[in-house]
Amino acid sequence: SQAQNRMILHVDEAEETINREIYGHFAEHLGRCIYDGLYVGEDSEIENIKGYRKDIIEALKEMQIPLLRWPGGCFADTYHWKDGIGPRASRPSIVNIHWGGVTEDNSFGTHEFLEFCELINAEPYVNLNVGSGTVQEASEWVEYITSSNQSPMTDLRKQNGRNEPWKVKYFGIGNENWGCGGNMTPEYYADLYRRFASYCGGAEFKIAGGPNVDDYNWTEVMMRKLQNHMFLMQGLSLHYYTIPQDWPPRFSATDFDKADWQETMFQVHRMEELIEKHSTIMDKYDPDKNVGLMVDEWGTWFAPMEGTNPGFLHQQNTLRDALVAGIGLNIFNNHADRVKMANIAQMVNVLQAVILTKGQELVLTPTYHVFKMYAAHQDAKLVPFHLSAEDYTINNQTLPSISTSASVKDGVLNVTMCNSNPDKDIEIEYDVRGASFSQAKGEILTAKSITDYNDFGGKNTVYTTDFKVNKPKNGKVKIKIPAKSVVLVQLSNS
Ligand code: AHR
Repeated sequence: SQAQNRMILHVDEAEETINREIYGHFAEHLGRCIYDGLYVGEDSEIENIKGYRKDIIEALKEMQIPLLRWPGGCFADTYHWKDGIGPRASRPSIVNIHWGGVTEDNSFGTHEFLEFCELINAEPYVNLNVGSGTVQEASEWVEYITSSNQSPMTDLRKQNGRNEPWKVKYFGIGNENWGCGGNMTPEYYADLYRRFASYCGGAEFKIAGGPNVDDYNWTEVMMRKLQNHMFLMQGLSLHYYTIPQDWPPRFSATDFDKADWQETMFQVHRMEELIEKHSTIMDKYDPDKNVGLMVDEWGTWFAPMEGTNPGFLHQQNTLRDALVAGIGLNIFNNHADRVKMANIAQMVNVLQAVILTKGQELVLTPTYHVFKMYAAHQDAKLVPFHLSAEDYTINNQTLPSISTSASVKDGVLNVTMCNSNPDKDIEIEYDVRGASFSQAKGEILTAKSITDYNDFGGKNTVYTTDFKVNKPKNGKVKIKIPAKSVVLVQLSNS
């Protein structure tokens, strides 16, 4: 009933900034993310700027991508950065041991990544190698990238055509060091982290490899062992993928029913609990919240698509992925006091990609449209709210119908809402307090079926359209959020 669904928004209490880095992305040397994805080489018939696909650059700018993490993932702890600099013809080829055992010719390296970031206006986030690298190698990479002094590394950089250092703020020190990044114990990694971080002084914002899902002991040990050396750690990462049931990912990305849909929604909602519990541990050692929780890998992970190399993690992206993206981003926004960054995995052709490519063709996925819609929240102030809305049940799994977050920026109130109930429209009343607005507009993303997706050959069935919202009256506005949709409502005075 209408009375049941209500959202009270306290606009005048907005304080916390939603870091635009929450809308970050991730590009690993994995499958067709880099090669045959964003990077096709200068000689390609596909239109490119210095080898980077022009249509991808345009789409990412349009989406307002703020940040890009590279080179992995698991690949990062196998990557020796000196293999990827200098004349391409003399760069060695290596085996990409984690991802299909394919040849990595190192034609996309440090200069290419940082040049690509400049082209898309995104902040770079470089992940250093701890698992199979040395402290010297890591510290030299940071120096090569960031130093303006004279040194063998800056001389080398100049020799390779770049005089000025790049502005790179974020450096990760290892990745999943509990697993592919060295199979370490948290105690061992924490000590190693302190050592690596001590010699990477040029890295302004250092991010430690954090826990896997609900490994609270990892967070506890890291925080305890760094508590008297907090200057070495500005962020702690968290990896959590939305995988129906459990590992390994074996459910189809496109062929699913309502029970699978609901199970997927349940899994993304778990993010809330994970953030809260890891944050509680962090609060104990860092009550002022100086260390950010960086969810630098998240998104859906389904079975690899038939006919593709299973090591390439290629999957389609349906309306279900759009809901996962919307719910995940709402959760991050609502924890903006601790969550300072998030990176959906992965940008092109891998896992929950925003872009898929095949030859000349390019597809913008439902997830792309959600990121573009939610860009309104980037660097806005989080608006506290109280929500009371109905639940729904499918296959004995009960979940909230509505996931939401709200922010205010430049006099505009942005409310994003996901209705994950696949069958029922939800009527909800906004009660806006602490500010008054006279105008309203909206955007919506939905589709006929829960399994709809966009595909090559011009199949474009999931996209955003205008969403009619009535003007607020006495601070109140009633909205009907259609079943299985993601909506942005914007109230303003102009
Ligand atoms: O994103 C794919 C992989 O998932 C990453 O390489 C790794 O960090 C995680 O296990």
